[in-house]
Amino acid sequence: VDTPALLLDLDAFEANLATMRDRLAGTGTRLRAHAKTHKSAVIAQRQAAYGAIGQCVQKVAEAECLAWGGIGDILVSNQIAGRTKLARLAALSRIVQVALCVDDAAQVEDAAAVAADAGIRLSVLVEIDVGMGRCGVPPGPPAVALAQRIAASPHLIFGGLQSYHGRAQHIPSREARAQAIGLAADETRRTVEQLRQVGLDCPVVGGAGTGTFALEAASGVWNEIQAGSYVFMDLGYAGIGDPPPFRHSLFVLGTVISAARDGVAVLDAGHKAVAVDSGLPAVWQRPDLVCTGLSDEHANLRCEGARPQVGQKLRLVPGHCDPTVDRHDWYVGVRNGRVECLWPIAARGAMA
Ligand SMILES: Cc1ncc(COP(=O)(O)O)c(C=O)c1O
Repeated sequence: VDTPALLLDLDAFEANLATMRDRLAGTGTRLRAHAKTHKSAVIAQRQAAYGAIGQCVQKVAEAECLAWGGIGDILVSNQIAGRTKLARLAALSRIVQVALCVDDAAQVEDAAAVAADAGIRLSVLVEIDVGMGRCGVPPGPPAVALAQRIAASPHLIFGGLQSYHGRAQHIPSREARAQAIGLAADETRRTVEQLRQVGLDCPVVGGAGTGTFALEAASGVWNEIQAGSYVFMDLGYAGIGDPPPFRHSLFVLGTVISAARDGVAVLDAGHKAVAVDSGLPAVWQRPDLVCTGLSDEHANLRCEGARPQVGQKLRLVPGHCDPTVDRHDWYVGVRNGRVECLWPIAARGAMA
């Protein structure tokens, strides 16, 4: 394998798929895995083989890519502004099951207009802000009012609630994470009840990520779990207290291209190969090699023991898996030291 390359340890990856399937069994929740992490219809198909009922995406282009890759049930867990993009989604909904989220009356109007033009009915979820502080109307009456607008349109179907607490995912203490999800559960439950009082059921109550999925799954409030990073398990998640039960399966393979100075080695994998928004990468199973910084095409390693030789290959564990994946064209799937597959990252750069 020439470098830099994105390696997928297939044993660890499959163990992660099985762990998530087993952890959700009997909780009354289903897995709608998030494709923003892997951007690959092949990985989505593998998740389906381990029980995922569909995929979440953040972007219409990701939905298109997954649909053409054979994924039949896709939720855009995000807001879509403007009829151009909505029309693409409406066109897609002729081929696969599609739903999207809204937090504004104008989005409901636009979705209804494009659905009417396309001669279809679109499923629309109301996003509530349960602590993330990003998108979403406040829980309770504002969410009910928006749901009633959706239900009143002959071209739309009220699909339920999107209730994702992103900020809770990496809270270091387990107790504080549980408290945050407890508050989100109260707000979500209250909104579901208020919707029921006006005659609206929630077929989907979606949310959760890799850091908190066990809490949402046990709450009795959510019925769809949207975890994404669990397939790869990055350093960001490995570093939280009582980390989620997944193995590192994603690595950036680099080659030592320089060891000219005492105590320092330099790899050929820099910012263009590995994302550092959640911290510098670690060298896999080499605590004696510490990454001290990256430049565009280089990673500097401080060597606390023997210096690696020029030409030696080393695995980096990324701090944040999603943007690292988006820097590569292929997963190189490896097992027992051999390459078993090459999977295209087909939705790489699919941002529109
Ligand atoms: C709406 C939504 N759901 C689910 C997730 C999945 O989170 P994770 O990759 O941490 O499992 C994200 C991640 O950002 C998200 O934005």
